[in-house]
Amino acid sequence: MTKKWILVVGARPNFMKVAPLIRAIDKHNSSRDSSLVTIHYLLVHTGQHYDATMSDAFFRDLKLPEPDLHLGVGSGNHGEQTGKVLIEFEKVLLKEKPDLVIVVGDVNSTLACALAAVKLHIRVAHVEAGLRSFDRNMPEEINRLLTDAISDYLFTPSPEGDENLAKEGIPPDKIFLVGDIMVDSLLFHLDQAKSTNILSRLGLKPQSSDFRSSSSPLHALGSTLQAPCSTLPYALMTLHRPANVDDKQALEKIVRGLLEVSAHFPILFPVHPRTAKQIKAFGMEGSFEFHSSPDIKSEEYFENGALKKKIHCFAPLGYLDFLNLMSHAKVVLTDSGGIQEETTVLSIPCITLRDTTERPITLTEGTNVLVHNDPEKIVAEVKKVLSGQTRVSQCPSLWDGHTAERIVAILANQG
Ligand code: UD1
Repeated sequence: MTKKWILVVGARPNFMKVAPLIRAIDKHNSSRDSSLVTIHYLLVHTGQHYDATMSDAFFRDLKLPEPDLHLGVGSGNHGEQTGKVLIEFEKVLLKEKPDLVIVVGDVNSTLACALAAVKLHIRVAHVEAGLRSFDRNMPEEINRLLTDAISDYLFTPSPEGDENLAKEGIPPDKIFLVGDIMVDSLLFHLDQAKSTNILSRLGLKPQSSDFRSSSSPLHALGSTLQAPCSTLPYALMTLHRPANVDDKQALEKIVRGLLEVSAHFPILFPVHPRTAKQIKAFGMEGSFEFHSSPDIKSEEYFENGALKKKIHCFAPLGYLDFLNLMSHAKVVLTDSGGIQEETTVLSIPCITLRDTTERPITLTEGTNVLVHNDPEKIVAEVKKVLSGQTRVSQCPSLWDGHTAERIVAILANQG
């Protein structure tokens, strides 16, 4: 028997969640067990993210197949973007008539595709279900709540996801605790990531000393990944939440903290297009060193052979380069969701520039701490890292690199 599934990607944080699913489906299909259904899948890209650095680079790094269909919706206000995906994806569903649609994460494309499918009585699986920040000003929180409310299979990364869904009245037989799919990609690519040349492009020299704690949760997983990673004296930062970058006062507060942090070590900042636009619009370019690429060669950026203690900005990085920089960073500053999870697995101190998180397990079991946009808290947390007061994380249960296989096994067994 053959089943037809559609997998949806739209924006940057979707790609590393769908790549492991595709590998798991291919593995399932290559099994010799003739009692198993064969899964025919189509990959649909909505085009929410379209820049080469936000999309193509991830297809290349994650070895994703070319999308079978590209909806080309592009940017727009929330209603416009969500509406365009809804209209275009419905046409795909009417033509392809899949048995199942799989959506991941919490971006506008996630909600729009789930909604288009459920209205046509096509079953929907939501991977990364149950996460809640309880902040309805976040567009992602609305996307999460609504996608979960209409999905048939809800795959959660950690137990609090199950609890949130139960409180919202989702029947337990729809909820499956399977672990974190981002970790599948992280563990699959980590060794390869460490061999990219991004450190030397940035003028950073890998050192053989100053190893991160040998009790990183990776040890518990067994594998070649046990090799401890040397840390280098820099902070890695990402920043793109509308609450942080669209509000001038919030951004000014964060930058005040960052300038103080950059007196201690350089901050490496691959800048999201939304943030680049806002820094320009607010006339704040003077606080940053903008580089046309991460190939920093000019002597003016170095002092005694080391990268100057400044905020160094460049275009967004691909998955492998970013992972390489993250794994060597002394500390990560971020307002991203997934990076809070990745730093927990890698046991890297993570300072989150938000006042809530939909991933509280990274606070209780991981290295994560919330500082909102408060400059004093940002600096205080960085000083803790500099004085060696770092937490060692535990790897949450089922964050073991096999989440996608569990999901595919469950879905393939449904009638
Ligand atoms: C989206 C997701 C967010 C996720 C983030 C990761 C929603 C509601 N938000 O936010 O959850 O963390 O992706 O990046 O879905 N732009 C480009 N090139 C691109 C994409 C965007 O220049 O390839 C610019 C456009 O000016 C666009 C702006 O960035 O208007 C924002 O893009 P959009 O997809 O609306 O939201 P993100 O902020 O990227």
